Amino acid sequence: MRIIVEEDYESMSKRAALFVASQVILKPDSVLGLATGSTPLGMYKELIEMYQRSEVDFSEVITFNLDEYYQLPHDDAQSYHYFMKENFFKHINIKEYNTHLPDGMAADIEEECRKYERAIESSGGIDLQVLGIGENGHIGFNEPAEKLNVYTGLVNLTEETIKVNSRFFSSVEEVPTKAVTVGMGTILKAKRIILLASGEKKAEAIRDTVNGHVTTQVPSSFLQLHPDVTLILDKAAASLL
Ligand code: F6R
Repeated sequence: MRIIVEEDYESMSKRAALFVASQVILKPDSVLGLATGSTPLGMYKELIEMYQRSEVDFSEVITFNLDEYYQLPHDDAQSYHYFMKENFFKHINIKEYNTHLPDGMAADIEEECRKYERAIESSGGIDLQVLGIGENGHIGFNEPAEKLNVYTGLVNLTEETIKVNSRFFSSVEEVPTKAVTVGMGTILKAKRIILLASGEKKAEAIRDTVNGHVTTQVPSSFLQLHPDVTLILDKAAASLL
């Protein structure tokens, strides 16, 4: 596991954007695994600026997002479909048909999950996976539990995650209690992984990711088993290392 510690959120975001951009420059038809949430927002902003300066071209890039809330319409402002469109896709030259998110609205959710796995596989697999991390060590929406899912599936969100994510909704009751997420196996099959974390609130999860036992109670600890993981942290997130 490589660990890069940057001074603050802004320099963490710039460093992460350079990782993604160099992946795309070296392999223009890269398959990227993408995350939502507060953490990668600065990275997306940097990538948009690099695109505007013609430093990176997304015309052949394929993306697969990690997760989506269950039964939240795609045009709902809190859906991850909406998030990706507003914060990234509509500002760059990516082709809409090359962007993928799990469809939390699918009538047959199990078939949707199998379809998502097949789509990732037939694209050749994820070249670079971008991850954030929950305060409880979740990656994607793979929450701490006795058992973790290998493949894409429907999962229950923990009370903690619902509470943390309620900051984006008008009340905690509005936060969906379930989500579709790629599984731990799907994440660990990516050729390269970068995990971004910023702020003191993530420091314990980062400590456990790097120095803790590999345990299903800290899903991010499984990253210790992957041969090519880089953590890009700001000083506060790295403060317990
Ligand atoms: C989002 C995702 C989640 C977030 C995590 C951290 O697609 O997969 O694992 O990365 O909940 O969220 P923020 O960045 O909002 O702290």
